[in-house]
Amino acid sequence: MHSLELEDVTGEVLTDFADDAARLPELVETPGFAAAEAYFSDYPERVLASPRVRAFMYQLVRAWRPRLMVEIGTYFAGTTEIAARALWANGDGGRLVTTDPYGGHRVPGILAAWPEALQEHVVFTDKTSMDFYIEFGQHNPLLDLSFIDGNHAYEFAFYDLITLGRWTRPGGLVVLDDCDQPGVFWAAKHFLELNPGWREIGGAFDSFDPARPFETMRSSVPGVGYLILQAPECFEITATPVSFTYSRFRQRGISGFRVHPTAGSGMGELHAKIFLRSFPDDESQGKPQQLVTTYSAPIASAGWEETVTLAEPFRTDLDTWTTTREAELAFAWYPTTDGAPLTLAQRPELIVTD
Ligand SMILES: C[S@@+](CC[C@H](N)C(=O)[O-])C[C@H]1O[C@@H](n2cnc3c(N)ncnc32)[C@H](O)[C@@H]1O
Repeated sequence: MHSLELEDVTGEVLTDFADDAARLPELVETPGFAAAEAYFSDYPERVLASPRVRAFMYQLVRAWRPRLMVEIGTYFAGTTEIAARALWANGDGGRLVTTDPYGGHRVPGILAAWPEALQEHVVFTDKTSMDFYIEFGQHNPLLDLSFIDGNHAYEFAFYDLITLGRWTRPGGLVVLDDCDQPGVFWAAKHFLELNPGWREIGGAFDSFDPARPFETMRSSVPGVGYLILQAPECFEITATPVSFTYSRFRQRGISGFRVHPTAGSGMGELHAKIFLRSFPDDESQGKPQQLVTTYSAPIASAGWEETVTLAEPFRTDLDTWTTTREAELAFAWYPTTDGAPLTLAQRPELIVTD
């Protein structure tokens, strides 16, 4: 019985893939792939994926070694279990958070029947992805890998993709299942058009032909219905504002921010709009407050200053012990030279003040 045993399904260490996502389609040629395909040929029982797709999920998680992974659409925890087994085999404490609004009555029981060592890798919530994001986003997550397999309608898939894309670490992956569904394929296509720093790793969109719109919807890996998208190696800021949010801090105000541009970043004008929102913990303390300020500066040299101090720090006058604060830093970039984006090695840091 698979479910009572824990073993390394392939006995294989896949070291060459973590730094080179373009090679991930080659996972189907690894010696362990056939072993994984055989192992998962009739198991998990109610997984909605072929043995080849199950084997690919296992090898992907083994190769990519995510520390933090999200799955949208748990169903009967089939792909959840495959990914959890790979996380267990990786042995570096990777966690998978999975959500399904219709899973509350079935998934906890399924997980409880797993070996404890496997359960430790998984957290389940019974929320729609949108409700899940509201709570999960408060932790400012940085995701290594997301697997979108929830509601496949365009608007749901697109929302899942832009939200998880925003929380993906530089170079991290978002995988969408069921690329043969128009909503999924077009959500990914539009997302890539809006986010040129992202790329699809297998050329799935290269042969798309609008004259044959359904026949030419392809996946990233032959025989595996996944679209695998990779985030840029740094945070890219372009004309479309990008927001970074900072939740649950107690200090009174903001005096500036720190950015870490990469060596290859472009020149231009940085525009920032900064919000400080304070929410009383209890309504009797008064109404929520929002303070806003803007900042603009030309950036003309590669080694530009990383710390920006606002001429006037802004502070809330609400009591800091009975209110909770959230800040939003929205950046927009106006390139002055060659149209190159501002590229940041990590998220901007807020400089807070009492
Ligand atoms: C295709 S199934 C997932 C299959 C599962 N990953 C597997 O391969 O075994 C899609 C799941 O998404 C769930 N779902 C539907 N709407 C959702 C939403 N808004 N957010 C999250 N999950 C949703 C459904 O309840 C269903 O269980």
